[in-house]
Amino acid sequence: MKNTTIHLHTAFDIGEVDPRLFGGFLEHMGRCVYEGVFEPESAHADEDGFRRDVLAALQRLAMPVIRYPGGNFASGYHWMDGVGPRESRPTVRDLAWQSIETNHFGTEEFLLLCRKLDWTPMLSANLGTGTPEEARDWVEYCNAPAGSRYADMRVEGGTPAPHAVPLWCLGNEMDGPWQLGHVPAEQYAIRAQQAAKMMKDVDRSIELVLCGSSTVALPSYMQWDRGVLEYVGGLVDYMSLHRYVDNRAGDTADFLAVTNAVDRQIEEMDAVCRFVQARRRSNKRAYLCFDEWNVWYKNMEMDGAGKHAPHLIEELYNLEDALVVAGFFNSFLRHADVVKIANIAQIVNVIAPIQTQGDQLLLQSIFHVFEMYSKRKRGRALRPVVQGPSYEAATNGRVHTIDTSAILDHDTLHVFATNRSLEAHAPVEIRLADRTITASLDCEIVTGDDPKAENSFENPNRIRAEAFHDTRLAEGAAHTRLPPMSTTAMTFALG
Ligand code: AHR
Repeated sequence: MKNTTIHLHTAFDIGEVDPRLFGGFLEHMGRCVYEGVFEPESAHADEDGFRRDVLAALQRLAMPVIRYPGGNFASGYHWMDGVGPRESRPTVRDLAWQSIETNHFGTEEFLLLCRKLDWTPMLSANLGTGTPEEARDWVEYCNAPAGSRYADMRVEGGTPAPHAVPLWCLGNEMDGPWQLGHVPAEQYAIRAQQAAKMMKDVDRSIELVLCGSSTVALPSYMQWDRGVLEYVGGLVDYMSLHRYVDNRAGDTADFLAVTNAVDRQIEEMDAVCRFVQARRRSNKRAYLCFDEWNVWYKNMEMDGAGKHAPHLIEELYNLEDALVVAGFFNSFLRHADVVKIANIAQIVNVIAPIQTQGDQLLLQSIFHVFEMYSKRKRGRALRPVVQGPSYEAATNGRVHTIDTSAILDHDTLHVFATNRSLEAHAPVEIRLADRTITASLDCEIVTGDDPKAENSFENPNRIRAEAFHDTRLAEGAAHTRLPPMSTTAMTFALG
């Protein structure tokens, strides 16, 4: 393959990387909560019923923010069912996933977990079957000082100090006909505005996320976004967007080019936000919150059949999926000025980097890519200019064979590069025009010889991050040779 040059310059500055781009999502779905993070009967359970092995794996991902309790689940969830003494909480039927919800894990358990793992909590209010007032009451329960009804409920439960939950979603995927309580944009806008006003009246410091289009496939795409944002206007801080991608066509080259579609979705949503901001003659810009994203298509089992913690959408991830996860991160970093929060869906068992099976735990291929990026997330994103081979993908258009992003952290440079070629090594030169690369500090790679290779409980280390030594420095630039079907994170020292 011909040479690729990644041109960088410290003045090609996109903006500070918001660490919340490396967030996660914990939903009451399948075995994400129960048998995932929370399993008091497990041999691994700590004194609060959390699985130590799962928490240790999650700690490695260093997720700064976690969204909870859904997802579609949130639109039928009444938060009061999940607070107070555990023995008196009701067992209810969850209609989103046709499952039984015991409410043994609720607000306090989630917030305790957040403290244990240093997560910033992000709560999704129920604007499907719930009322704006119920959302307001939840803010009071979590964030108000003692001295009023819901705050005192928290205090009686043993938590005197407010939790100070800073981020709240105004519902979930309210544009989707599958959503409990789905309504047309005009009605959602009214509900969201009422909730937003009351929630901020309780706590002025909170930030709010408005439901934008959950998929580009719906006819209301962009129209919904414009309508709801115009109505709710300056009360919200972020617009939510979701994306699940697939390789149903069995075309790996096209699948790896899905970064074009993700870039485009971000740019389109940002365009609506800027349009509405201009129409409102406002200085307040709504940023993007990509609060669900992942690969998801192989396991579509979503019917819990009336069971508690059923096995739902337990997707197994392979090498090509891991490279696509890297592509999502590259897209987010290339748009670091616009995308401020992103939550991989989900964190355990349900379309997740971590799987449990009895007392065993498996790290999936995507876990290793997530960890590789997450540990390099501090700094300012630089705009890379790529010169080199490209190809025309069947549905996603033309892409460079090398997909890349970069973060400058003072005297350290992180360069992420994915070789999308299925068969050829790629010679790559990395140049930072106004600085000298003086040393290769820490480079890792995730690769393999089969795009469909995956980890399993029998063979757990087939896909993992390994040290990458194939970098050479010459005249202030770095030179490397990236194996086919690989994603690499390279950390360099700068002179
Ligand atoms: O993450 C699984 C589901 O996908 C979420 O509950 C929903 O918001 C989305 O459609």
